[in-house]
Amino acid sequence: MSNIPSASEVDIMDTFNAIGTRRSIRWYEPHVPVEKWKIQAMLEAARLAPSAGNFNGQRAIVVYRDEDPEIWEFISDWSQITTQMAPVLVFWCYDMANYDIQGQSIHDLMRTGALDKAHGWEYDRVSNLFPLPGLLPDAILHRLAAIDLGNAIENAILAATALGLGTCLNGASGGARRNTKAKFELPDTYVFSWLMTVGYPAEKMDGGGTRSRPPFDTMFFEKKVGNAFPRDPEVVSLLEDLNLIQPAGPLPGRLEEINKLTRRFGLGDEWLTDWKLEESQVGEVMGDKKFTSLSSEEVQASVAGASVDPSGFTLVPTVKREKIQEYREKKGIGDAD
Ligand SMILES: Cc1cc2nc3c(=O)[nH]c(=O)nc-3n(C[C@H](O)[C@H](O)[C@H](O)COP(=O)(O)O)c2cc1C
Repeated sequence: MSNIPSASEVDIMDTFNAIGTRRSIRWYEPHVPVEKWKIQAMLEAARLAPSAGNFNGQRAIVVYRDEDPEIWEFISDWSQITTQMAPVLVFWCYDMANYDIQGQSIHDLMRTGALDKAHGWEYDRVSNLFPLPGLLPDAILHRLAAIDLGNAIENAILAATALGLGTCLNGASGGARRNTKAKFELPDTYVFSWLMTVGYPAEKMDGGGTRSRPPFDTMFFEKKVGNAFPRDPEVVSLLEDLNLIQPAGPLPGRLEEINKLTRRFGLGDEWLTDWKLEESQVGEVMGDKKFTSLSSEEVQASVAGASVDPSGFTLVPTVKREKIQEYREKKGIGDAD
């Protein structure tokens, strides 16, 4: 019997709610499996993203943590904890080889009526312009392909959020960047970009509130830079009602939440967060002040009542960069990997 639900059984968020609810999730339920159909839904969403000239260079390799338990060790130190917990990892790449067939893709847009004569499109004109690598420098081609990949990734992220999953993009610097080519047998034309964790959040979906953003009027303009696009409070209020705009973090209880998760997954006291969470200072001139340290009593109070994961799932503390090098040498992983 199929375990794919019918549409009426799928509990899905609307787009505004998904955009507003999405957070980079860095704590996952390590043993709650992600349904394969949800991963497929994310990839289907990525496939449908817009791309420059219908380039379609987005590529993804899906990996399951339990089938490849060492993979997290090749990931940059700040991402190791996240990647240990996430049951699914997606390695996002773009394929420069698609530039070779982009002329065909554009002809296809004409063939299917997306582009038309009224907009100035002609078969031979397109044939003369493409492939683009004959015309544009590499840096520009990579920039275009990376923007397209970003669109695809965001589609996948919003699909995941709408289905109740958490995701986080991770820089896979260091070992992973060198290792992915051999590990996944990437063709030379593939450029590995970002690694994404996917799983059910162990932290609240709201991640303790929306993360800091610069003030709206410093980002968006009308007619010229410096002339802020007017931010109508009534529109803000409407978007709050539609869940697109949600309360800014840190919401009350966030310190307790992250420290209890730290304890739950077996990390010792030295890994408990011992600074005071406060309002964001992004956008304030000279706002980057050092955090206030908490006393050990305050830190202990934040984990009162916490218990370790009954499944015995224990995180391996972050392996620092210098240790990774040691590990690579021990395992005989060379730079060429
Ligand atoms: C391309 C990209 C790479 C990122 N790399 C990392 C990373 O290596 N580690 C990490 O913890 N978060 C990473 N993030 C998540 C960002 O820190 C996060 O999007 C940002 O702080 C805003 O928070 P939010 O996504 O919860 O709104 C990455 C995000 C993007 C878009």
